[in-house]
Amino acid sequence: MTGIINWNELWKTMRSGSAWRRAPEKDADFWDKYAKRCNESLMQSNERTERQITKMELYPEYSVLDIGSGVGRLAVPIAKKVKTVTALDPSKDMLAYLKENMKKEGVNNIVCTNKRWEDIELGEDIEPHDVVVASYSLGMFDMQETLAKIDAAAKRCVYLFEFVGGWMDEKFWKELHGERRPAWTGYIYLYNILHDMGICANVKIIDSDYEQQYDSLDDAVNKWKDMYDVPSEKEGVLTEYLTKILVERDGKLCLKRKSKSAMVWWKKNHECTEQRSQYPVGENPTR
Ligand SMILES: C[S@@+](CC[C@H](N)C(=O)[O-])C[C@H]1O[C@@H](n2cnc3c(N)ncnc32)[C@H](O)[C@@H]1O
Repeated sequence: MTGIINWNELWKTMRSGSAWRRAPEKDADFWDKYAKRCNESLMQSNERTERQITKMELYPEYSVLDIGSGVGRLAVPIAKKVKTVTALDPSKDMLAYLKENMKKEGVNNIVCTNKRWEDIELGEDIEPHDVVVASYSLGMFDMQETLAKIDAAAKRCVYLFEFVGGWMDEKFWKELHGERRPAWTGYIYLYNILHDMGICANVKIIDSDYEQQYDSLDDAVNKWKDMYDVPSEKEGVLTEYLTKILVERDGKLCLKRKSKSAMVWWKKNHECTEQRSQYPVGENPTR
């Protein structure tokens, strides 16, 4: 039931806004372009990965569906704890890196599906899994439809991860884009859309440290130009900003920052809501 605010329509409006200008059907091309870089940087995010995984209730007999798995930052370590993982991603290049990462880690229980979540027919392309995970991958246009399908795909538990707020300096953002940074805090929408759907989700805010390394200032400028769609005429502003925030270490330039994420999670059925006496993987997420 929708209340005074229609959160799904609001989500669609935000989704069409400046931060999301590309068309959703172009997602695969967009992410193909970043696959190599994601693989270099995301696979180093061990501390963040560990913090996410220890908050999930995972058992050796479980099947896990990872929506928007990317290069397998979560899918690969999760596969070591459960029976099977389905890694779904529309980007072929992301999945190619995921397969390399599986080999490197000696993991062979991940099945890859190269599709957008919107194009999945439940019961035909994918059967329900014990646990469904979507980590920083919920850019879909119709969030209510997306969440209803996610809920239907999960037999026991769902874990969604979203960044909380922006981290880029407000003044710098405005200089780059000529407009205020959009107040994009996705989990607020997810929580409210779920609530209107009759799903009372839990939210846990997780702090993490993030470190990115660059070979040189030029390397950082080029990567940022690509990643944040910085127009050539703003290269000077970008260079000045990066010079201020990067610190030198072991011949590399490092960007260190703290970030906050939200884990929006819920359990599906009676069996799942019963307290288990032990949580074999990490901490009890309800604490
Ligand atoms: C920021 S990456 C996150 C990767 C990984 N989940 C992680 O946490 O490291 C976002 C991923 O979502 C995927 N993605 C984008 N649109 C999608 C869609 N409509 N359905 C499924 N996955 C999508 C992208 O291809 C990309 O690999």
